[in-house]
Amino acid sequence: MQMMQRNVVGQRPVAGSRRSLVVANVAEVTRPAVSTNGKHRTGVPEGTPIVTPQDLPSRPRRNRRSESFRASVREVNVSPANFILPIFIHEESSQNVPIASMPGINRLAFGKNVIDYVAEARSYGVNQVVVFPKTPDHLKTQTAEEAFNKNGLSQRTIRLLKDSFPDLEVYTDVALDPYNSDGHDGIVSDAGVILNDETIEYLCRQAVSQAEAGADVVSPSDMMDGRVGAIRRALDREGFTNVSIMSYTAKYASAYYGPFRDALASAPKPGQAHRRIPPNKKTYQMDPANYREAIREAKADEAEGADIMMVKPGMPYLDVVRLLRETSPLPVAVYHVSGEYAMLKAAAERGWLNEKDAVLEAMTCFRRAGADLILTYYGIEASKWLAGEK
Ligand code: PBG
Repeated sequence: MQMMQRNVVGQRPVAGSRRSLVVANVAEVTRPAVSTNGKHRTGVPEGTPIVTPQDLPSRPRRNRRSESFRASVREVNVSPANFILPIFIHEESSQNVPIASMPGINRLAFGKNVIDYVAEARSYGVNQVVVFPKTPDHLKTQTAEEAFNKNGLSQRTIRLLKDSFPDLEVYTDVALDPYNSDGHDGIVSDAGVILNDETIEYLCRQAVSQAEAGADVVSPSDMMDGRVGAIRRALDREGFTNVSIMSYTAKYASAYYGPFRDALASAPKPGQAHRRIPPNKKTYQMDPANYREAIREAKADEAEGADIMMVKPGMPYLDVVRLLRETSPLPVAVYHVSGEYAMLKAAAERGWLNEKDAVLEAMTCFRRAGADLILTYYGIEASKWLAGEK
């Protein structure tokens, strides 16, 4: 490596021999690090070439010289105020249940454990959460009516959170998958079609029931066509003109949702002889190959009244974050999804990555790409690190 640096004209150094390094045409470089008076120069390793300084009007390294200077010219910053913390809730027992594929993340037991976790987040400046309930199997149906049960786990959690922390921003997920016995975001016909307009009727009821429970922002993650406008009209009709919509605008059919589906046991179920259940969500979530299509979704969401547009997953889709940033004046959110969290945790557990540095870099890159808001399971940990904790 040292040799490669010295070889300024790009010739191959001769292996194993420092002195035999041949550098054509740059006389100075062939000299050892001995000054003209024959003494070894101080402060540089012996062997450092003596060269004529380059005549450079621009040297970008000047602006990187110290942490003070770097901090003063830094283009983006990350703050706990940017984070939305996803929380998984269950009520199968009074204990938190660890999620195997998301080390450090639990399904929180409904009640005090939820309050404690959110209180901890708030103590680090994270004041926004998104609620994901785990529905017991016996409450799941093909039409997912539990989604708009006024006393469902999701609705009760929203009420609990707003009663405990009136100024907390509570986001919800609008989609049928946690309540659907087929494991899809919409109602599945016997032929295996995810019914669009019929599903939207129930999504509207779900969003209204969440608003009634006190939700501040409802977030349709289902990718049905026209759902943002329909939800907006339903909310307004019921008097919830102040409830916002954060739309999953560009949500891709991604392998990175695996751990989330473990957390909620919400993956598509196997089909039966008389009912074909698609094994994936590719007929409604976007194709990972597509970029222009995100513009089409963004235009629709904006016209239908979305307040915030989201891109999901995060790290492999930064180009789409940038695209929405430049296509629309709306705030842009990005979802650093369960699989991205799992990858970082797994590498950190093996000592293969410095977790803190890798995570804060990921958050910074989301901001650089143009995201205002970041949904991340690292919300509390990253905020601790930002506050200077180890
Ligand atoms: C439900 C939903 C999913 C996620 C958020 N909302 C799963 C899916 O679409 O299958 C994934 C979040 C994550 O992986 O962290 N529609």
